[in-house]
Amino acid sequence: MCGIVGYTGYRDVIDVLFKGLTNLEYRGYDSAGIAIRDDNKIKIYKSLGKLINLKNEVKEKQTEIVKPTSGIGHIRWATHGSPSLVNAHPHTCTCGNLVVVHNGIIENYKELREQLIKLGCEFRSQTDTETIAHLVAHEYSKVNDLEIAVRNSVKQLQGAYAVCVMHKEVPDVIVGARKHAPMLVGVGEGENFIASDTPAIIEYTKKTIYLDDNEIAVVTKDNVKITDVNGVIVNKKVEILPWEPVALSKLGYKHFMLKEIHEQPDVIRNVLNGKLYDIDAPISLNEVKISADILKKLNKIEIIACGTSLHASLVGKYLIEDFAGISVEVEPSSEYIYRKTTTDSSTLVIGVSQSGETADTITAIKQAKEKNAHVLIITNRPDSNMARLADSLIPVNAGIEVSVAATKSYTAQLISFYLLAIYLAEIKNSLDKSYVKNLKHELIQLPTKIEEILSNTSNIQECARKFSSFKNFIYIARGINLATAYEGALKLKEISYINATGYPAGELKHGPIAMLDETMPVLSILMPGGVCYEKVLSNSEEAKARNAKLIALTSSDDDNIKSLFDVVLKVPQVNEILSPAIACVPLQLLAYYIAEFLGKDVDQPRNLAKSVTVE
Ligand code: G6P
Repeated sequence: MCGIVGYTGYRDVIDVLFKGLTNLEYRGYDSAGIAIRDDNKIKIYKSLGKLINLKNEVKEKQTEIVKPTSGIGHIRWATHGSPSLVNAHPHTCTCGNLVVVHNGIIENYKELREQLIKLGCEFRSQTDTETIAHLVAHEYSKVNDLEIAVRNSVKQLQGAYAVCVMHKEVPDVIVGARKHAPMLVGVGEGENFIASDTPAIIEYTKKTIYLDDNEIAVVTKDNVKITDVNGVIVNKKVEILPWEPVALSKLGYKHFMLKEIHEQPDVIRNVLNGKLYDIDAPISLNEVKISADILKKLNKIEIIACGTSLHASLVGKYLIEDFAGISVEVEPSSEYIYRKTTTDSSTLVIGVSQSGETADTITAIKQAKEKNAHVLIITNRPDSNMARLADSLIPVNAGIEVSVAATKSYTAQLISFYLLAIYLAEIKNSLDKSYVKNLKHELIQLPTKIEEILSNTSNIQECARKFSSFKNFIYIARGINLATAYEGALKLKEISYINATGYPAGELKHGPIAMLDETMPVLSILMPGGVCYEKVLSNSEEAKARNAKLIALTSSDDDNIKSLFDVVLKVPQVNEILSPAIACVPLQLLAYYIAEFLGKDVDQPRNLAKSVTVE
């Protein structure tokens, strides 16, 4: 989704803005723009599509650029107004002296726009953002002070914003403000940065100040001042970023997605590190700040999440109910927030999010907190807004994930749920001790098993080649791997744009079977160990009888499988209950290779954003 970077200091301003925007572009966008202060003028450059177009645009106009001293940049993911040059940020006031970039949605922009038009402002775009430019310029004309003008303006805005403003008459000052959208200041020496997310600044500084809602930052090259909306100075903590710049490099892989898939064995080791170190010792989850007595009596958990995190949550539900006998509801955040829920002070609400910034999940968490529920956040971004709202926080330690399609963060979330479910079971004494010991032993073995899959992907590549021309797929499974079917189908959909649906295998004959023929392959997930295996096998037979091409994902050597399926994707033997953590890997690779064969933009699929910061 949209990204912001602002800079003032001694470096090449355009270079800093481009590097910052490049490090944010994984979030997804459709146009880009920068505004620089150069030769006492504000100069604006915009382009549609990828950043390379903007770079070319700036290159063409190179002769008119002298030596910029500050600037703001933006990548836009269209919400109000189509992706077009005129709608791309930065936006200006009527005279062009004031420039604005903005993430979020201004809900009352229509009313404000009407008022500002009456005052003589000339609007050029369809965006809500342009309203901010005219509004701040109007307030500036009254007080002749940019900081106060921004403060007076944001008081009139409803909705979500992370906004950066520069004014021609206020040299090398960038004013930032936020509400319900992330914004941070990067602190340097003789230079300072402002950005919507840490990757934009990581190459230059690790010192960061996170703005909270209703705070305003005034940034110059030598100073950072943060106030609340009434102008009262707020003393903020300078935090040190946990990332290294190398996290943003492909390290020789063709795509970030492939790199991140290959990182999964180490990611699992990281998640287990310090929490599961000895199969005879209880799981250590110091992050859970609820007493064992309360946990023992807990009878309801609600998990809220979106997208891939929602699929990890479905595995979490299965595990917690199975291991600890606590009833768990899983709901998309976007549904939870618009209904009357039964959340109360005795509910444990778990929010799951890779980015920690997904707007719907943040709103859901806030609603749960208003109802006095204890909120446990499972996130890959301990530096995120969601993490700040948490009563308890389980950081999943997957390292920064750049590819829009989530892979390693999903596996890390799964492993976190295994740990949490075993932790709850140990507190409640609800599982046989030798079973737990065995589970822990197998959990520790998982990275090696995934390494086995990653060491030879030729079969998966062959399958991808064979099936890349199909337009529709159904993924079927039962039990704990139903979420694997949903997630596998989502991966394919996201990056190859092929219509793939995950379905409970038993539901096949209640509708989807009507669509089956030789044009609709069925991918069956068959993990031996329980009753599901035979059942999915029968459901696959039913699909075969309708001429569907069949792909099996299995750890079984069963001859029935070899004879029934057109392609068999093998994974190493694993306890069925742990199988989602390894079954997801070939499905990620299958989606990856199909998208690759089709020549799709794997890391930045069309229309998608890595972090969805609007509801
Ligand atoms: C977007 C991303 C998905 C992600 C979902 C939830 O749609 O493209 O990959 O699963 O948001 O994001 P979160 O950061 O909350 O896990």
